[in-house]
Amino acid sequence: MSDGSSFYITTPIFYVNDVPHIGHAYTEVAADVLARWHRQAGDDAWLLTGTDEHGQKILRTATANGVTPKEWADRLVETAWKPLLQIVDIKNDDFIRTTDERHEVNAQKFLQHLYDAGHIYTGEYEGFYCVGCEEYKQPSDLIDGTGEFAGQQVCAIHSIPVELLHEKNYFFRMSTFADQLLALYEENPDFVQPAAARNEVISFVKQGLSDLSISRSSFDWGIKVPWDDSHVVYVWFDALLNYITAAGYGHDDEKFSRLWPATHIVGKDILRFHAVIWPAMLLAAGIEVPRRVFGHGWLLVGGEKMSKSKLTGIAPSQITDTFGSDAFRYYFMRAISFGQDGSFSWEDLSARYQSELANGFGNLASRVIAMVVRYCDGEIPTPTVFTEDDELIRATEKRATDAAGDAISRLAIHEAIAAIWELVDELNGYITSQEPWALAKDPADRARLEAVLFTAVRGLGTLAVLLSPVVPQATAKLWQALGGTGELTDQRIDRAWQWTGGTHVSPLEALFPRIEATVG
Ligand code: ME8
Ligand code: MG
Repeated sequence: MSDGSSFYITTPIFYVNDVPHIGHAYTEVAADVLARWHRQAGDDAWLLTGTDEHGQKILRTATANGVTPKEWADRLVETAWKPLLQIVDIKNDDFIRTTDERHEVNAQKFLQHLYDAGHIYTGEYEGFYCVGCEEYKQPSDLIDGTGEFAGQQVCAIHSIPVELLHEKNYFFRMSTFADQLLALYEENPDFVQPAAARNEVISFVKQGLSDLSISRSSFDWGIKVPWDDSHVVYVWFDALLNYITAAGYGHDDEKFSRLWPATHIVGKDILRFHAVIWPAMLLAAGIEVPRRVFGHGWLLVGGEKMSKSKLTGIAPSQITDTFGSDAFRYYFMRAISFGQDGSFSWEDLSARYQSELANGFGNLASRVIAMVVRYCDGEIPTPTVFTEDDELIRATEKRATDAAGDAISRLAIHEAIAAIWELVDELNGYITSQEPWALAKDPADRARLEAVLFTAVRGLGTLAVLLSPVVPQATAKLWQALGGTGELTDQRIDRAWQWTGGTHVSPLEALFPRIEATVG
């Protein structure tokens, strides 16, 4: 990670047909941890999130609720999607809505540009459309319905019947980009991650690409096709463009060249849109392709993807009301390998909260600070003689700093936290074996006591800096109690181990208080 380099990171923009569940919060947190990390590494980090508001799915939901689609979108954005960011403590730099004028106008510019360059033609299409996916499906994407849909073909993701559509539409000549896409995946192996996702994308493109229908004329909730206002832009074509319209495309060249290209964090359900359609659109327009596209796994309920449409969603506030936003962030980033599926369980969350956050990290901080208060009147000692045990802690601080930074550069968030936790565990072992409470009994051991407490305080400072992107609230309290100078979020994370300590500690409340209520 180099000083000041641009790190533009995005989440998907979410459909406002319903309120968010913990799957959406999961994506937000992952992107936010990466953005916070890069900011603290001195990079010019920029986190974009937002909402996807056009198309049939939103139109139908609004109509069913007796309001216009714009009224529906406004209501959901203000009451649910923006509040989600507070609930899980997201520090985004921008929030784009596809109904923003800056988006609509510049998305039209992009389309006109493709049209003028000959990448768009008129054609006819008949196929099965899934409104849940907002996508034409191939027969191989369909499965036999069950229950109320027995005897019908349903979408494998949404389990709802597909609809046979026949329309005269505008088409994007996507098929002409297959070779360029394959070359891109080949020359830039990190472009699609993780590796399994990359292989799937490559074999999909190798089967040959069709052209893409990019307009609809049977309804009008969308961006008007600039040269034919009887059509609106296909909702995915519209939505993908948010990543560049928010970054200044078409209206702020300086900003756009500073930010672009982006790192896209998406769920694996929408990886193909991002790894195939989106780079093809950009190639056609002569714009640089994204830096990378990472498809993370799904939170599962009973082995299936948690989803709005199947009503299996858990509201993020159900977790944060009891455990707090830090615990939410820590749990999902730690317990699930980023890139793999994972199941949420209240038992696992409670167990990790208690053993890792409350006992492992929180108690360590409280005990060390309490001992500095009790044995040194709160003054952080400045010893000059250290033993091998102290040096081992120092070495672990450096190792954790380097290993975590390396893991983050590979987007392996869970590995970064595991590397940092080695320091938590070693510091706990160090306190147990050094027994500062015993050293405090004999004035002859004073120098040793001071070396131990200093070492422990410095280790806590390193932890505060390293864990700040993951648990920003607890670490801010710890930083203050350690007498750290400046804002914690301004401390360089790639040099976390070089922190040399403040002068005084102040009392620290329990970072992760005991939770009495039964939950679930
Ligand atoms: O697809 N586990 O929006 P969407 C993990 N508007 N993540 C999950 C999840 C789960 N069970 N369920 C949802 C759309 N997500 C389009 C995107 S982008 C140009 C347009 C997360 O509201 C995950 O990030 O259906 C997934 O990709 C996204 O929500 C889909 O959100
Ligand atoms: Mg979806």
